[in-house]
Amino acid sequence: MSNIEKYRQYFTKDYLMGPNSFRLLDELIRRKPSEVRFHRTLDLGCGFALTSLFIANETDADYVYAYDLWISASDNYQRIREGHLEDRIIPIHGDAMDMPFAHDYFDAIVSVDAYHYFGCREGVFAEKILPFVKKSGYVMITIPGLKEQPQGELKQLFETWAEGDDAQLFQTAAWWEALLKNECGETCDITVKEAECFDIAWQEWFDSGHEYGARDQEFLRKGLDKILNFILIYVRKN
Ligand SMILES: C[S@@+](CC[C@H](N)C(=O)[O-])C[C@H]1O[C@@H](n2cnc3c(N)ncnc32)[C@H](O)[C@@H]1O
Repeated sequence: MSNIEKYRQYFTKDYLMGPNSFRLLDELIRRKPSEVRFHRTLDLGCGFALTSLFIANETDADYVYAYDLWISASDNYQRIREGHLEDRIIPIHGDAMDMPFAHDYFDAIVSVDAYHYFGCREGVFAEKILPFVKKSGYVMITIPGLKEQPQGELKQLFETWAEGDDAQLFQTAAWWEALLKNECGETCDITVKEAECFDIAWQEWFDSGHEYGARDQEFLRKGLDKILNFILIYVRKN
Protein backbone atom coordinates (compact mmCIF):
# COMPACT_ATOMS: atom_id res chain seq x y z
CA MET A 1 0.00 0.00 0.00
CA SER A 2 1.35 3.41 -0.95
CA ASN A 3 1.64 6.16 1.68
CA ILE A 4 1.81 8.96 -0.84
CA GLU A 5 -1.16 10.92 0.57
CA LYS A 6 0.95 11.77 3.64
CA TYR A 7 3.08 13.99 1.38
CA ARG A 8 0.27 16.00 -0.25
CA GLN A 9 1.35 19.15 1.64
CA TYR A 10 4.41 19.19 -0.64
CA PHE A 11 2.47 19.08 -3.91
CA THR A 12 2.80 22.84 -4.38
CA LYS A 13 4.90 25.26 -6.41
CA ASP A 14 7.14 25.88 -3.38
CA TYR A 15 8.31 22.27 -3.29
CA LEU A 16 7.83 20.54 -6.65
CA MET A 17 10.60 21.01 -9.22
CA GLY A 18 8.77 19.23 -12.06
CA PRO A 19 6.23 16.42 -12.60
CA ASN A 20 5.43 15.10 -9.12
CA SER A 21 8.57 13.33 -7.86
CA PHE A 22 6.66 11.59 -5.08
CA ARG A 23 4.64 9.71 -7.72
CA LEU A 24 7.78 8.75 -9.64
CA LEU A 25 9.68 7.64 -6.54
CA ASP A 26 6.68 5.77 -5.16
CA GLU A 27 6.37 3.78 -8.40
CA LEU A 28 10.15 3.23 -8.61
CA ILE A 29 10.05 1.69 -5.13
CA ARG A 30 6.84 -0.31 -5.67
CA ARG A 31 8.17 -1.95 -8.84
CA LYS A 32 11.71 -2.66 -7.59
CA PRO A 33 13.04 -6.22 -7.35
CA SER A 34 12.17 -7.73 -3.96
CA GLU A 35 15.84 -8.24 -2.97
CA VAL A 36 16.56 -4.46 -2.90
CA ARG A 37 17.73 -3.14 0.49
CA PHE A 38 17.95 0.56 1.33
CA HIS A 39 19.95 0.44 4.60
CA ARG A 40 22.47 3.02 3.44
CA THR A 41 21.04 4.96 0.49
CA LEU A 42 22.30 7.82 -1.66
CA ASP A 43 19.57 10.13 -3.02
CA LEU A 44 21.49 11.43 -6.04
CA GLY A 45 20.29 14.84 -7.28
CA CYS A 46 17.87 15.09 -4.34
CA GLY A 47 16.78 18.69 -5.08
CA PHE A 48 14.94 19.96 -1.98
CA ALA A 49 15.57 16.58 -0.25
CA LEU A 50 11.87 15.72 -0.25
CA THR A 51 12.61 12.47 -2.03
CA SER A 52 15.11 11.79 0.79
CA LEU A 53 12.32 12.28 3.38
CA PHE A 54 10.17 9.82 1.46
CA ILE A 55 12.96 7.21 1.29
CA ALA A 56 13.74 7.62 5.00
CA ASN A 57 10.07 7.22 5.99
CA GLU A 58 8.88 4.62 3.49
CA THR A 59 11.76 2.14 3.16
CA ASP A 60 14.09 0.20 5.45
CA ALA A 61 16.77 2.92 5.08
CA ASP A 62 18.81 3.65 8.22
CA TYR A 63 20.69 6.53 6.58
CA VAL A 64 19.91 8.59 3.48
CA TYR A 65 22.61 10.82 2.00
CA ALA A 66 20.82 13.76 0.34
CA TYR A 67 23.23 14.88 -2.38
CA ASP A 68 22.59 17.77 -4.75
CA LEU A 69 24.31 20.40 -6.89
CA TRP A 70 21.81 23.27 -7.30
CA ILE A 71 20.39 23.30 -3.76
CA SER A 72 22.61 24.03 -0.75
CA ALA A 73 23.11 21.51 2.07
CA SER A 74 22.07 24.18 4.61
CA ASP A 75 18.73 24.75 2.84
CA ASN A 76 18.10 21.03 2.80
CA TYR A 77 19.17 20.60 6.43
CA GLN A 78 16.41 23.02 7.43
CA ARG A 79 13.75 20.97 5.63
CA ILE A 80 15.20 17.74 7.04
CA ARG A 81 14.95 19.16 10.57
CA GLU A 82 11.37 20.26 9.95
CA GLY A 83 10.68 16.62 9.03
CA HIS A 84 12.43 15.48 12.26
CA LEU A 85 14.82 13.30 10.27
CA GLU A 86 18.15 14.99 11.06
CA ASP A 87 19.52 11.80 12.66
CA ARG A 88 18.96 9.77 9.50
CA ILE A 89 19.32 12.14 6.52
CA ILE A 90 22.72 13.69 5.78
CA PRO A 91 22.59 16.73 3.46
CA ILE A 92 25.62 17.20 1.17
CA HIS A 93 26.27 19.74 -1.57
CA GLY A 94 28.22 18.34 -4.52
CA ASP A 95 28.49 17.26 -8.12
CA ALA A 96 27.57 13.75 -9.27
CA MET A 97 30.70 13.82 -11.41
CA ASP A 98 32.96 14.07 -8.37
CA MET A 99 31.45 12.25 -5.40
CA PRO A 100 33.33 12.11 -2.09
CA PHE A 101 32.15 8.66 -0.94
CA ALA A 102 34.00 5.39 -0.40
CA HIS A 103 33.65 2.79 -3.13
CA ASP A 104 31.20 -0.08 -2.40
CA TYR A 105 29.52 2.10 0.27
CA PHE A 106 25.81 2.21 -0.58
CA ASP A 107 23.18 -0.54 -0.55
CA ALA A 108 21.14 1.59 -2.96
CA ILE A 109 21.58 4.70 -5.06
CA VAL A 110 18.25 6.33 -5.97
CA SER A 111 17.91 9.18 -8.44
CA VAL A 112 14.61 10.90 -9.26
CA ASP A 113 14.25 13.28 -12.23
CA ALA A 114 17.97 14.15 -12.15
CA TYR A 115 20.12 11.50 -13.86
CA HIS A 116 19.47 12.78 -17.40
CA TYR A 117 21.19 16.10 -16.50
CA PHE A 118 24.57 14.41 -16.13
CA GLY A 119 24.25 10.77 -17.20
CA CYS A 120 23.55 10.92 -20.94
CA ARG A 121 27.17 10.26 -21.90
CA GLU A 122 29.02 6.97 -22.28
CA GLY A 123 31.27 6.31 -19.27
CA VAL A 124 29.38 8.32 -16.64
CA PHE A 125 27.49 5.39 -15.14
CA ALA A 126 30.35 2.88 -15.02
CA GLU A 127 33.02 5.35 -13.88
CA LYS A 128 31.22 7.94 -11.74
CA ILE A 129 28.18 6.19 -10.21
CA LEU A 130 28.48 2.38 -10.09
CA PRO A 131 31.71 2.26 -8.02
CA PHE A 132 29.85 3.69 -4.99
CA VAL A 133 27.26 0.89 -4.74
CA LYS A 134 28.03 -2.41 -3.00
CA LYS A 135 28.19 -5.75 -4.78
CA SER A 136 24.55 -7.01 -5.03
CA GLY A 137 23.36 -3.43 -4.41
CA TYR A 138 21.12 -1.48 -6.77
CA VAL A 139 21.09 1.80 -8.64
CA MET A 140 17.48 2.86 -9.28
CA ILE A 141 16.75 5.78 -11.56
CA THR A 142 13.61 7.46 -12.81
CA ILE A 143 13.79 10.13 -15.50
CA PRO A 144 11.58 11.76 -18.09
CA GLY A 145 12.11 10.33 -21.56
CA LEU A 146 10.57 9.53 -24.93
CA LYS A 147 8.19 6.82 -26.13
CA GLU A 148 9.63 7.33 -29.60
CA GLN A 149 11.77 9.86 -31.46
CA PRO A 150 9.49 12.76 -32.51
CA GLN A 151 9.03 13.44 -36.22
CA GLY A 152 7.82 16.42 -38.27
CA GLU A 153 5.74 19.02 -36.40
CA LEU A 154 6.05 17.11 -33.12
CA LYS A 155 9.85 17.27 -33.45
CA GLN A 156 9.69 21.03 -33.79
CA LEU A 157 7.30 21.34 -30.86
CA PHE A 158 9.52 19.07 -28.74
CA GLU A 159 12.69 21.03 -29.54
CA THR A 160 11.03 24.37 -28.76
CA TRP A 161 9.82 22.96 -25.43
CA ALA A 162 13.21 21.46 -24.56
CA GLU A 163 15.09 24.49 -25.90
CA GLY A 164 17.88 23.40 -28.23
CA ASP A 165 20.57 21.20 -26.77
CA ASP A 166 18.43 20.13 -23.83
CA ALA A 167 16.46 17.97 -26.27
CA GLN A 168 19.44 15.56 -26.05
CA LEU A 169 18.57 14.84 -22.42
CA PHE A 170 15.36 13.06 -23.41
CA GLN A 171 15.87 9.57 -24.79
CA THR A 172 13.87 6.35 -25.22
CA ALA A 173 13.91 3.36 -22.84
CA ALA A 174 15.76 1.37 -25.54
CA TRP A 175 18.42 4.11 -25.81
CA TRP A 176 19.05 4.07 -22.04
CA GLU A 177 19.16 0.29 -21.94
CA ALA A 178 21.71 0.17 -24.76
CA LEU A 179 23.87 2.90 -23.14
CA LEU A 180 23.97 1.17 -19.75
CA LYS A 181 24.49 -2.33 -21.18
CA ASN A 182 27.36 -0.99 -23.26
CA GLU A 183 28.93 0.61 -20.19
CA CYS A 184 28.47 -2.27 -17.77
CA GLY A 185 28.82 -5.41 -19.86
CA GLU A 186 28.42 -8.50 -17.65
CA THR A 187 29.09 -6.62 -14.40
CA CYS A 188 25.40 -5.64 -13.96
CA ASP A 189 21.83 -6.82 -14.54
CA ILE A 190 19.83 -4.02 -16.13
CA THR A 191 16.06 -3.64 -16.36
CA VAL A 192 14.39 -0.65 -18.01
CA LYS A 193 10.62 -0.05 -17.89
CA GLU A 194 8.10 2.67 -18.68
CA ALA A 195 6.37 4.21 -15.65
CA GLU A 196 2.58 4.15 -15.30
CA CYS A 197 2.14 7.38 -13.31
CA PHE A 198 2.53 9.72 -16.32
CA ASP A 199 -0.89 11.43 -16.22
CA ILE A 200 -1.12 12.00 -12.47
CA ALA A 201 2.53 13.11 -12.08
CA TRP A 202 2.06 15.75 -14.80
CA GLN A 203 -1.42 16.81 -13.60
CA GLU A 204 -0.16 17.44 -10.05
CA TRP A 205 2.71 19.52 -11.47
CA PHE A 206 0.21 21.58 -13.53
CA ASP A 207 -2.03 21.97 -10.46
CA SER A 208 0.90 23.16 -8.31
CA GLY A 209 0.62 26.63 -9.81
CA HIS A 210 4.32 26.73 -10.79
CA GLU A 211 4.95 29.00 -13.82
CA TYR A 212 6.98 26.26 -15.57
CA GLY A 213 4.06 23.89 -14.96
CA ALA A 214 1.75 26.20 -16.92
CA ARG A 215 4.25 26.27 -19.83
CA ASP A 216 4.61 22.46 -19.76
CA GLN A 217 0.83 22.04 -19.74
CA GLU A 218 0.52 24.14 -22.88
CA PHE A 219 3.10 22.02 -24.73
CA LEU A 220 1.71 18.68 -23.56
CA ARG A 221 -1.78 19.73 -24.67
CA LYS A 222 -0.42 20.58 -28.12
CA GLY A 223 0.75 16.96 -28.54
CA LEU A 224 3.90 16.35 -26.49
CA ASP A 225 1.92 14.01 -24.24
CA LYS A 226 1.94 11.55 -27.18
CA ILE A 227 5.72 11.16 -27.21
CA LEU A 228 6.88 11.80 -23.62
CA ASN A 229 7.06 9.16 -20.89
CA PHE A 230 8.86 8.42 -17.63
CA ILE A 231 11.44 5.69 -17.52
CA LEU A 232 12.33 3.42 -14.59
CA ILE A 233 15.85 1.92 -14.55
CA TYR A 234 17.07 -0.80 -12.17
CA VAL A 235 20.73 -1.80 -12.21
CA ARG A 236 22.04 -4.60 -9.99
CA LYS A 237 25.80 -4.67 -9.45
CA ASN A 238 26.90 -8.31 -9.71
C1 LIG B 1 14.34 18.46 -11.44
S1 LIG B 1 15.37 18.45 -10.02
C2 LIG B 1 14.80 17.01 -9.17
C3 LIG B 1 15.14 17.03 -7.74
C4 LIG B 1 14.58 15.91 -6.85
N1 LIG B 1 15.20 14.62 -7.09
C5 LIG B 1 13.10 15.79 -7.04
O1 LIG B 1 12.69 14.87 -7.74
O2 LIG B 1 12.37 16.63 -6.50
C6 LIG B 1 16.93 17.94 -10.69
C7 LIG B 1 18.07 17.97 -9.68
O3 LIG B 1 19.23 17.40 -10.29
C8 LIG B 1 20.35 17.99 -9.69
N2 LIG B 1 21.54 17.85 -10.52
C9 LIG B 1 21.71 18.23 -11.81
N3 LIG B 1 22.98 18.01 -12.19
C10 LIG B 1 23.63 17.49 -11.11
C11 LIG B 1 24.95 17.04 -10.86
N4 LIG B 1 25.89 17.10 -11.82
N5 LIG B 1 25.25 16.58 -9.64
C12 LIG B 1 24.32 16.52 -8.65
N6 LIG B 1 23.04 16.91 -8.83
C13 LIG B 1 22.70 17.39 -10.03
C14 LIG B 1 19.97 19.45 -9.53
O4 LIG B 1 20.75 20.05 -8.53
C15 LIG B 1 18.47 19.38 -9.25
O5 LIG B 1 18.17 19.59 -7.90
